[in-house]
Amino acid sequence: ISKIIKDQFMKGIILRPGQILSMEDTRNIASQYGWEIELIQEDEINPFERLVESYQNAYREGTRLVQRPPVVTVMGHVDHGKTTLLDRIRKAKVAEGEIGGITQSIGAYQVEIRGKKITFIDTPGHEAFTEMRARGAQATDIVVLVVAADDGVMPQTIEAYNHAKTANVPIIVAINKIDKPNANIDLTKQQLASKLGLVPEDWGGDTVTVPVSAKTGKGVEDVLEMILLVSEVADIKCIPQGHARGIIIDSKLDKAMGPLATLVVKDGVLKVGDYVVAGSSAGRVKALINENGKRIKEAHPSDPVQIIGFDEVPDVHSIVYVVDDLDTSRALSQYSKGQLQKEKSVTNRRHVRLEEFLSM
Ligand code: GTP
Ligand code: MG
Repeated sequence: ISKIIKDQFMKGIILRPGQILSMEDTRNIASQYGWEIELIQEDEINPFERLVESYQNAYREGTRLVQRPPVVTVMGHVDHGKTTLLDRIRKAKVAEGEIGGITQSIGAYQVEIRGKKITFIDTPGHEAFTEMRARGAQATDIVVLVVAADDGVMPQTIEAYNHAKTANVPIIVAINKIDKPNANIDLTKQQLASKLGLVPEDWGGDTVTVPVSAKTGKGVEDVLEMILLVSEVADIKCIPQGHARGIIIDSKLDKAMGPLATLVVKDGVLKVGDYVVAGSSAGRVKALINENGKRIKEAHPSDPVQIIGFDEVPDVHSIVYVVDDLDTSRALSQYSKGQLQKEKSVTNRRHVRLEEFLSM
C-alpha cells in the first residue's frame, strides 16, 4: 500500500487509504504495475422489470380491468379487539384460542356479505410487530383502525395510522368496546382529532368512525356497510385473467410441508401447477390452501391463499409472479440471488477502495 501511495505521490497524485477510486483511475494505476482490471459484472437489465411492465401496461390501458373485492387490513393497539371484531364478522373463534390472547402472525380471511366478498387481514397490535403492521398496510385497499373506547388512542394506534397514511389508503375507524361501562366515545373522538388529525364526520371532518362492540355485535353491520361503501368509492380494480401476481403477507418453513407462503392475489388467476417466482425463491405450485385449510384448484384476485411449492421460504415483502415455465422461474430467482450477493460483494462496485485494490 505505502509503495503505491509513495509512487503516486511522486507523480503528484495524492492517495489516501480508504479513498474510493474511479474505474478509470484504477485502470490507470494498475497499468503502471502491469496489472489489468477486469470488471466482473456490468449492471444488467432487471428481468423483473419486463414482468412488471406487462401489468403496468394493462393498468394504463384500463380496458381489461374489472372490479375486485376490497382487501381490508384491521389494525390497532394491542388488545383493542381486532381479532374479536374479525371473529364476529366471520362467526369464528380465533381470539379465544390465541396464546396469551395476543395475535402473533398475520391472518387472512374472506367473507361474503350480501353477495359481496371482502378479504380481511388481521394484524398483531403488540409493539414488537411493527414490521407485520407495515406489511399489512402495504397489501391493503382499506384500513380499519380499531380503537377501544375505554382506552383511547394509544402508541400502536398512532403507529398503525402512520402505516396507513404511508400506504395512502382510506381509513375507517372502529371505536370498539362501547359495551364497557367506562367506554368514552367522545373522548376517543377527541383523541382521534387531536393526536391523529382524524376529525370524525359528525364533527364536521371527513373521517368515518363507527361505534361498535365486537363482544355484543352491536355496530358490526355498520362497519361492514362502511367498508362496502368506501370500497365502491375507491374503485378497486384488477386484471382478472392471465398470469397471476400477488403479494406475500406471511411465510414460514413448515416441518411437514416445507416452505409455505400466504399471499393475496392481486391480478390474474393462480392455479395449481403454475410456475412461480418470489424474489430469490422459485417453484411450482404443488397445492393451494384456502383459509379453512381446504385445498383449492385456483385463486382469484383478492383471494388470500397459501402456496406450497416454493424451493425456499420467500421474503414477506416479495411479489409472487406466475411465469411460463420452470426455466424462467429459476432464471428470475437466480437473478434475485445475484442481486443479493452483489450487495454484499465488493468485486462489482464501480468504485474500488484503495485497500481492496491493493489486496487483489
Ligand atoms: P392483539 O391481536 O393482541 O393486538 O389483540 P386484539 O386487538 O386482536 O384484541 P382481541 O380481539 O384479542 O381482544 C382483546 C380482549 O378484549 C379480549 O379479552 C376480548 O374478549 C376483549 N374484547 C374485544 N372486543 C371487545 C368488546 O367489544 N367489548 C368488550 N367488553 N371486550 C372486548
Ligand atoms: Mg388479535
